[in-house]
Amino acid sequence: MHASIPRPEYVDRREPARYTGTNIYTPDEIERIRNSGRIAAQAVEAVGAAIAPGVTTEQLDAIAHDFLIAHDAYPSTLGYRGFPKSSCTSINEVVCHGIPDDTVLVDGDIVNIDITAYVDGMHGDLNKTFTVGTVTPEVAALVEGTREALNRGIKAVAPGREVNVIGRAIESYARRFGYGVVRDFTGHGVGSAFHTGLIIPHYDSAPAFTDVMAVGMVFTIEPMLTLGTPESPGTIAWDQWPDDWTVTTLDKSVTAQFEHTLVVTERGADILTLP
Ligand code: MF3
Ligand code: CO
Ligand code: CO
Repeated sequence: MHASIPRPEYVDRREPARYTGTNIYTPDEIERIRNSGRIAAQAVEAVGAAIAPGVTTEQLDAIAHDFLIAHDAYPSTLGYRGFPKSSCTSINEVVCHGIPDDTVLVDGDIVNIDITAYVDGMHGDLNKTFTVGTVTPEVAALVEGTREALNRGIKAVAPGREVNVIGRAIESYARRFGYGVVRDFTGHGVGSAFHTGLIIPHYDSAPAFTDVMAVGMVFTIEPMLTLGTPESPGTIAWDQWPDDWTVTTLDKSVTAQFEHTLVVTERGADILTLP
């Protein structure tokens, strides 16, 4: 770890400081978030290129860590509420927040790589799900459907709309294929804080979540879809490992996720996490 790379305030603390700032950024700040987002996206690509049967998630995390450090970026997850690694690696039934370890990827797995880079005071956060070797047609369709669900959510972004339109677009697309939509993990405001407190649900949450999108507002959209039973209001369709991080579907059905950080523009959305 390069000692000279500036770290977010929460590193070596139990939890982050409460964020009281805005979710709306100036053009200069947006370019700084885009720079962080680009480095994070390039790190995801570097990890993706190494994904193959026989590789461990710890080896993938080392690629993420080394890439970020080489680009003078701090891996935002490292030391976030005690998270021990520079990426989240979530395999098959793991919904999110999997901790890289000595687990070996095998043919037919899917693995999500979630990386956030902190550079020049700004976080950029994205994830992608990759297939390992040859996956079943059903799993391949889930991965592509989840990628498209994120696109549908992004297309719903426009100034003047409530954020609940995003989840409406995602959920209505997911339902066509009978996919479940995870409710308890959401998109979030991001920028000078990793999670600002602004919440972006991936299901149709109206009449709740009425924050109105405005030009310059920055947040993530990061839908998690499952082959299992759709979650309904008030149900808890997930489970957690004793590590207090790894979230799985309750029925252990396969789940996929894609995430981008974006800024609201006059015309819609501009993705800030492209390589
Ligand atoms: N990057 C994840 C997100 O999309 C958050 C990971 S927090 C960690 O919000 F501590 F689990 F790494
Ligand atoms: Co995120
Ligand atoms: Co993320």
